[in-house]
Amino acid sequence: MTVITNIEDLRRLAQKRVPRMFYDYADAGSWTESTYRANESDFQDIKLRQRVAVNLENRSTRTKMIGVDVAMPVAIAPTGMTGMQHADGEILAAKAAEAFGIPFTLSTMSICSLEDVAANTTAPFWFQLYVMRDREFVGRLIDRAKAARCSALMLTLDLQILGQRHKDLKNGLSAPPKLTLGNIANMMTKPRWCMGMLGTKRRFFGNIVGHAKGVDTMGELAHWSNSQLDPSLNWGDVEWIKKRWGGKLILKGIQDVEDAKLAADSGADALIVSNHGGRQLDGAESSIRALPRIVDAVGSRIEVHMDGGVRSGQDVLKATALGAKGVYIGRAFLYGLGAMGQTGVTKALELIHRELDLTMAFSGKTQISQVDKTILLPGTFPV
Ligand code: GLV
Repeated sequence: MTVITNIEDLRRLAQKRVPRMFYDYADAGSWTESTYRANESDFQDIKLRQRVAVNLENRSTRTKMIGVDVAMPVAIAPTGMTGMQHADGEILAAKAAEAFGIPFTLSTMSICSLEDVAANTTAPFWFQLYVMRDREFVGRLIDRAKAARCSALMLTLDLQILGQRHKDLKNGLSAPPKLTLGNIANMMTKPRWCMGMLGTKRRFFGNIVGHAKGVDTMGELAHWSNSQLDPSLNWGDVEWIKKRWGGKLILKGIQDVEDAKLAADSGADALIVSNHGGRQLDGAESSIRALPRIVDAVGSRIEVHMDGGVRSGQDVLKATALGAKGVYIGRAFLYGLGAMGQTGVTKALELIHRELDLTMAFSGKTQISQVDKTILLPGTFPV
């Protein structure tokens, strides 16, 4: 096997090993995928200043996100159906994150349940909440997250309706996959994945099925979101959820300065500049371009994090330079997971950490706290 030296290597391996419908689910954006592409390519436009003859001994990427000590300013983003990229995917990714010393965020749309992840990990993890029409169920989910020792609640605000991803519709995405001839033929070319899935019971939406009223089976994402997600979600709900949870709250899906101000007013601990990985509003600005404006407007009142397009330590460094106190990786860890399970997630984290450490050093800095806009070449970064 070729030596894995970057996230792109993991992506290629995942594409070979994960059934097409799940690989496509992770990899795709909505409609023309223009925002999905911009998230990545806008990072490339930003240039770093190379500095030399600076003492680079005693470097560290350690810092804090919402008061939590982290080995680097990176957390694992909540991603739907992670347990379909690899059997028991959420548990494996949470274990890798714990060993590395960074936060893991479990999605409401996970395959492994809150309780299952808690039972298989030691460090507290974060829980991402979608607001469903059934508010009693939402309340119970919040209580379950408390009981599972989650140390932060991440409320997603940009998915009360679902953007159209062409591939998911064409592939008939569902968990577990329907046994059509096409799916069986495709899965037969993925023996490692099949073996893993045969060895686990975790093949449904673990937080929902058997917990929400009338939901005993529910496999299709489109059906899931249409029937469960509440399109009426508004800032009043944020207040209610904050009170019910009572702990650290992160608001995810902010792209606009006006919304950022409302997020800061809400008293949340952090907001995430995010366009949902280019999976919702196609045509929205990339996260890295939106970031500095939002930091400028509210950075003194609320911690600003970001996600979208992060595939390397260089990307993490650029986002940090533009004011992000934390950066989330979604696809970058999913590729590792699909490629090699827990080992692959660890590999993704190691790769990003090494890139971050060395690139910070080439920029003449030895600590995350020293990283700011001055490491970027003027005229190449958004303001
Ligand atoms: C869910 O969060 C998705 O983007 O599919």
